[in-house]
Amino acid sequence: MPTLTATLTSNTTNTTIPSIKPRKRKLVTSYVCHYLSLVYEFVYTFFIIKPKQHLLSRRRMHALTPTHSSIPALPATQSTTPSTQSSTRQRHSKGTLQYYKGKTLVLDLDETLVHSVRLGSQEANYPVNPCIKRKQIEVQSEKQSLLYQVYKRPHVDFFLKTISQWYKVVIFTASMSEYADPVIDWLDEDQTMVSHRYFRQSCISREDGNYLKNITMAEPDLAKVCLIDNSPVAYDLFKDNGIPISSWIESPNDESLLDLLPLLDALRFTSDVRSILRLQQFGL
Ligand SMILES: *[C@@H]1O[C@H](CO)[C@@H](O)[C@H](O)[C@H]1NC(C)=O
Repeated sequence: MPTLTATLTSNTTNTTIPSIKPRKRKLVTSYVCHYLSLVYEFVYTFFIIKPKQHLLSRRRMHALTPTHSSIPALPATQSTTPSTQSSTRQRHSKGTLQYYKGKTLVLDLDETLVHSVRLGSQEANYPVNPCIKRKQIEVQSEKQSLLYQVYKRPHVDFFLKTISQWYKVVIFTASMSEYADPVIDWLDEDQTMVSHRYFRQSCISREDGNYLKNITMAEPDLAKVCLIDNSPVAYDLFKDNGIPISSWIESPNDESLLDLLPLLDALRFTSDVRSILRLQQFGL
């Protein structure tokens, strides 16, 4: 703040008055906004969080854990949105979750975060842009071992790093664990971002061959969970919790993951994610 004021006063002395006026107004506006957000936070803290004292004291323990953020951390008051988390936290307490987060984001794996081809298959012959990160993964299935080339969707590393500071991140895939486990290990190298994994055996297999995902396994309170999946049938049982994304195969210019960040940033502050996501069905 002192530097800002200093700039302003030195400018006032050097420049002509007309050019200063809009800047000053801008500065005043930003102060007012800042002030209002502080008032909001105050009201929120004392009238909504305070009554939940027992939750608050539990949070303090977690507040001591350092956060690694290049991205602005969410305000402490928000991260403690009152919830039914005690049961969820207990279930996942052995995970690597570092601090308390109010909402859960469930992610599909194939064609949402990565794309894989089996080496030896015809698809493996198509050239893929060299700037796309890739890794070979060996999968033991029954008697034979299969080699897969796995490609990372553009920006997936940044995406995961960002959302894991906002949400509890869970991966729910219709693939077998023999394949998906090493892929997730590659995406989450330090094992700090993904707090739970669900594989094919957790999916509900429908007669038409589609796999549906029961996201209540990840978070029983549907107000606090969303699922990003390139296949809308995956959230057929929970349409109001689904966030669609285009299927990714190999385009190096794909920015779908980045495009979701503003929505995900906003959703973490809503009391019920369905109130926003429901609007998508009306094309909003
Ligand atoms: C989804 O999972 C929950 C909790 O594990 C279970 O109670 C519920 O019956 C499941 N729903 C379906 C449709 O399988």
